[in-house]
Amino acid sequence: MKKINFILVGLGNYSCQRLDILEKNKKYNLVGLVDTDKKKIKKFPKEYKKMFFQSISQANKKVSADACFIYVSAYNHAKLVCESLENNLHTFCVKPIALNHKEFKKILKIKNQRKNLILVQGQNNQWNDASIEMNKILNDKKIFGSFKLGYCITWGRQVLQNQNAQIDAKTDGSFFHSMAIHQLGQLVASLGLPHTVFCKSPRGGDKTIGYKNINRTGSGTVIFDYGEGRYFTYLGNRSGHGNPRGFAARWSGDWMFNGTRGDLKRSGGRITVFSDGSIKKDSYLQDIDDFQILDDERQYNLFFSSIVNKLKYLEKQSLETWLLMEACNISSKKSKVVNLKELKKALGFNL
Ligand SMILES: NC(=O)c1ccc[n+]([C@@H]2O[C@H](COP(=O)([O-])OP(=O)(O)OC[C@H]3O[C@@H](n4cnc5c(N)ncnc54)[C@H](O)[C@@H]3O)[C@@H](O)[C@H]2O)c1
Repeated sequence: MKKINFILVGLGNYSCQRLDILEKNKKYNLVGLVDTDKKKIKKFPKEYKKMFFQSISQANKKVSADACFIYVSAYNHAKLVCESLENNLHTFCVKPIALNHKEFKKILKIKNQRKNLILVQGQNNQWNDASIEMNKILNDKKIFGSFKLGYCITWGRQVLQNQNAQIDAKTDGSFFHSMAIHQLGQLVASLGLPHTVFCKSPRGGDKTIGYKNINRTGSGTVIFDYGEGRYFTYLGNRSGHGNPRGFAARWSGDWMFNGTRGDLKRSGGRITVFSDGSIKKDSYLQDIDDFQILDDERQYNLFFSSIVNKLKYLEKQSLETWLLMEACNISSKKSKVVNLKELKKALGFNL
């Protein structure tokens, strides 16, 4: 099978870890490295130097690429996603692909003219064993039936004092775009989008760990209305006082879903299924790992099969997750209920 030739944008630490995953994956072939900072290529072996460029457009003129992976500061995501799509590259950009609905609208305008390209917002937490099992049970009509009611609580402590994390402390709405996404992605994958969203978010977070007095950066609480009397509630806080079950696992969440045939309870990697008043299943599975290696490996495989088999579900799921994050921000800012169908229409979401 033909490999996907790719360009990697951003040569920071997290990005280089992703490069390692992609280079070990036999489906991908590195053809270009892009960073605005020339010094970044110095840490690479000699043979990589000839494939270094300072922009996607420069790289795309010199190498034959199919896809582009973007891992830079989120301030630059939207403009780089647009540049990548304009260069006719399938595009994978780490979350969030846009910081607000104006940026997202620009991306969709270009994307709508290039329906053959796959655009994916890179997310974590949907592809570890526990998340896959949760999704599977929730969609099993015999075991779970249909969704009626549920909640997710996620609680942890994210120190934002280092330079790389500054965007999270400084940008209104970053709680939903960079933290709640880890749970909302799982919700969209399992139950799809709700009809409406109503969200409240306290100002900032714990100042001793770097939060500033900026709205929607530390925590939030939401009611998702799935119609026909079905509701899901969410409460997230990354400015708490501890990290139960470790740093990354705080993202997995504590969940409860009530279905017409059974209930599912999940706490990190532990999933318990109840029916007729007793426990039907109790499993301890692999939760997200500290460096998100397994999650990204599986996600890159799905990106590959989306491109090769022209499958749209990964694109749709990841972009709908962005919509849900932004709906929370809009609802909290305007203190009103946001209707997802209306938001899709207003943004030109037509995939
Ligand atoms: N999904 C997750 O859980 C997770 C975890 C860690 C980091 N991240 C995200 O991954 C991204 C990269 O993280 P990192 O730690 O590698 O970042 P970093 O800040 O260490 O490196 C970013 C690199 O991008 C380069 N850059 C900036 N603007 C550019 C542009 N316009 N064009 C080309 N290069 C540009 C910089 O020179 C720098 O070398 C960030 O958005 C971060 O939020 C996600």
